[in-house]
Amino acid sequence: MKPLETKRFIDIRSELINKAKGEVLEIGSGTGINFSFYKDVSVTAIEPNPVLRKASYERAYEVKTPIHVIEGNAEQLPFADHSFDTVVGTLVLCTIPNPVKAIREISRVCKPTGTILLFEHIRHENSLLGKIQDLLTPIWKRACDGCHLNRDTIHLLRQEELEIIDIKKHVGNIFITVEARKKQK
Ligand SMILES: C[S@@+](CC[C@H](N)C(=O)[O-])C[C@H]1O[C@@H](n2cnc3c(N)ncnc32)[C@H](O)[C@@H]1O
Repeated sequence: MKPLETKRFIDIRSELINKAKGEVLEIGSGTGINFSFYKDVSVTAIEPNPVLRKASYERAYEVKTPIHVIEGNAEQLPFADHSFDTVVGTLVLCTIPNPVKAIREISRVCKPTGTILLFEHIRHENSLLGKIQDLLTPIWKRACDGCHLNRDTIHLLRQEELEIIDIKKHVGNIFITVEARKKQK
């Protein structure tokens, strides 16, 4: 995604992360690219890849917000139910091998009053573009560390116990930002 990390992406990330409150969990923090956008919160970031995790540690050290980086897998989060006020994931559900498991875990560790903030790329709703993404996905997955270009993340989120409060489309409707919460019972 490096070529796309332009001003547009910075604005998208900043607007989304600004909504984070209280105790925050970020899943798959990568190099810690979001860390400078957090304000007045306390963050736990999990990252399974040791090389990226090291970059996250370094970035966490550079910012004012307290950010605790640990090894972790979003499919099996090492936290009790209802631990966080906000759970953040950016460009990560596309890469996680079992995104449904990860969405269930995110929902489990998020407080009933909490918010889930996501920035993802998705399978395009235009059937031709979607089919092109389907064709490219096997090569893309190999080139981009397991990233699924054609993942239908909106559908996956709607299948689970989540209520989508807000969804915005970006950059030719290939990217979305989502604000969600647990379905109120
Ligand atoms: C495309 S990178 C995005 C990194 C960063 N979040 C960003 O916005 O640039 C995908 C990230 O997902 C992480 N990842 C892959 N599988 C994961 C899993 N099971 N649990 C948590 N993170 C995972 C990768 O290690 C990588 O950091």
